[in-house]
Amino acid sequence: MLFPQNMPLLRTLKCNIILPRIPFHLYNRNYCHSGAGESFVPFDALVSQRRNEARRSLLVEVAGLPSSVDLHQVCSQYGAVQKMFHYTTRQGSVNKEMILVEFDKAESLERALQSTRSPPIDRIIPVHSPFVWLSASQPAPRNRKANIGSSTDIIQETVPSDEELQLQLSQSRDLSEQIQNVYECQKLTELGSRLRFFTCRQVEVALSGLFPQACILPFGSSVNSFGRVNCDLDMILELFDVSNQDSTQRLVFQAKKSRSAANPRITMQRHMEVISDILDNFVPGCSQVRKILAARVPIIKYRQDLTDMECDLSMANRSGFYMSEMLYLYGSMDKRVRPLVFAIRKWAKDRHVTSPYAGRWVTNFSLTLLVLFYLMKTSPPVIPPLQTLIKLAGDDDVRTADGINCTFLRDLRIVTASDNKQSLEDLLRGFFEFYDKFSFKERGLSIVRGDDFVKPEHSALYIQNPLERELNVSRNVTLEELERLRTEITHARYRLEEYTQHIEEQEQQPWGLLSLWGTSRKPQAHRGLNASIDWQGVFHIQEQETPPTSNKQLNVLPVHAATKSNEKVPSNGEKARNNTKFQPVERTKMLKEELIMPSDLNGLVTKLKRNVVQKNANGRKNKKQKMNKVMYKW
Ligand code: CTP
Ligand code: MG
Repeated sequence: MLFPQNMPLLRTLKCNIILPRIPFHLYNRNYCHSGAGESFVPFDALVSQRRNEARRSLLVEVAGLPSSVDLHQVCSQYGAVQKMFHYTTRQGSVNKEMILVEFDKAESLERALQSTRSPPIDRIIPVHSPFVWLSASQPAPRNRKANIGSSTDIIQETVPSDEELQLQLSQSRDLSEQIQNVYECQKLTELGSRLRFFTCRQVEVALSGLFPQACILPFGSSVNSFGRVNCDLDMILELFDVSNQDSTQRLVFQAKKSRSAANPRITMQRHMEVISDILDNFVPGCSQVRKILAARVPIIKYRQDLTDMECDLSMANRSGFYMSEMLYLYGSMDKRVRPLVFAIRKWAKDRHVTSPYAGRWVTNFSLTLLVLFYLMKTSPPVIPPLQTLIKLAGDDDVRTADGINCTFLRDLRIVTASDNKQSLEDLLRGFFEFYDKFSFKERGLSIVRGDDFVKPEHSALYIQNPLERELNVSRNVTLEELERLRTEITHARYRLEEYTQHIEEQEQQPWGLLSLWGTSRKPQAHRGLNASIDWQGVFHIQEQETPPTSNKQLNVLPVHAATKSNEKVPSNGEKARNNTKFQPVERTKMLKEELIMPSDLNGLVTKLKRNVVQKNANGRKNKKQKMNKVMYKW
């Protein structure tokens, strides 16, 4: 590749996400790394830092990486350039080379945008936005004062392919190291995180003429610290901030009365219609804009081609943001939480338990709550139940959103670390053992109490929504999908047991996590893009029955009461026979085609009864968990 002579101005930093070869500062993405308290960054501070970076950033399409020198010179006219990230995105059959430029100050970006010209107006609608392209160079104007003395590195992040990840895992020392490596290789990168906030900023800027206070916040896996590279971007749009109004001001804006003021939901749907038209017609890079307005939480779905991500935009859904904060806190509380969640989400994805498409299956969000619930049930618990964080909340932690109380402790620096010292390997095994025995049929899970309770209604899987406690976050899951999950859990349990028993014979075989993944046949032709999606079920369009919210009704059981101690591990055949009761036709077909386990597992069922059950008896005695009553120690 030929570089212009002045290339030394910029160095390219390749950021391979493989440990431990990369200097720490290049992939320092999630701020809080190890254990409760240590280097913890509160969620609000994280979000405000990222929003601030987005306000100073410009996304530029360039001809190729060598143009970065030129781009640096052009941008330096307007202010100091702090960082530059390069990536390639594919649009159809064309690769686009993109550089995200971070200025030192928002004013520098403003100056740059004021000098930016519109493209020739030939069937193109010129739009003012921080998405631009660098045209071919022309003779430099005399007054151009490039900041020649300065230098900015071009950061390129390389995420390992599936093959590279597998190679790395096969070379790991043990299962715990594999789990850690999955996390390090797959977590959202620095650039991934910046681009998500920047994509939010784009919509904010697009609406700012009419709504200068419009605020778009990312939520979900983009910010809750459980997001993979390429995870979707969930966004909440708030058009104005009523809490920030000074009621003593004498001048008041004229405004139109909403035509459907009596029904806020209809008002919101109308606004979303307009916003989706704006995205579709004017905002660069937005494609495939679809409205799903009948859902419990109405959303606009679209693809942002230039930042290469799928986006879901909702309004008046602040509780989703606080839910993400809650998950972020749990991820920060103990350094094992995130790696474990990543490993289990990866396992579920590879075994087709979860799917990128909405439907009747377990979502990543539900799966994450299952992991958190399990970590509250270990002995001693790895993380405390939400009610502990609620009890520790101070005045600064009080939040409500749409009448939902979202108050819980925000600053984890005052919480002590868990006494649980289990390895990631032990926790992963424990997860599969725990849910292999869990009585999903009768019991629901509450991470508020960190305990299970009698299911208040007949959903196959009942996971209480931690913030809107009368809702079940997994109401969409059908019995057949729950049974799929259980079958895969049993399968995983066998696999890990097999690995431990035959470790020395297996040097050439896929082992540990690699033995859990791989070729499970895709069970769901109906999971593709053309799927007929049960949006009603997915988004809880109908009102739900009211499950228990009071402590009395929750019927708290001791730690392992949900699993009968003398319960036999059912054979594959037994499971299959039981399952056919639920969905005679469809289920039988699925069992034949997809759910029968590989024949090499048959012998292991008997071994499991002997060995695994014995192991449980040693490892988990029904001791009551003692919560230390010292203030701030849970
Ligand atoms: N959410 C919720 N209740 C639900 C489903 C989702 O409160 N029944 C909120 C959660 O905060 C969740 C967010 O909406 O994190 C986004 O949902 P989704 O995109 O399905 O899950 P993610 O956590 O973002 O995971 P993924 O990586 O699969 O997108
Ligand atoms: Mg998401």
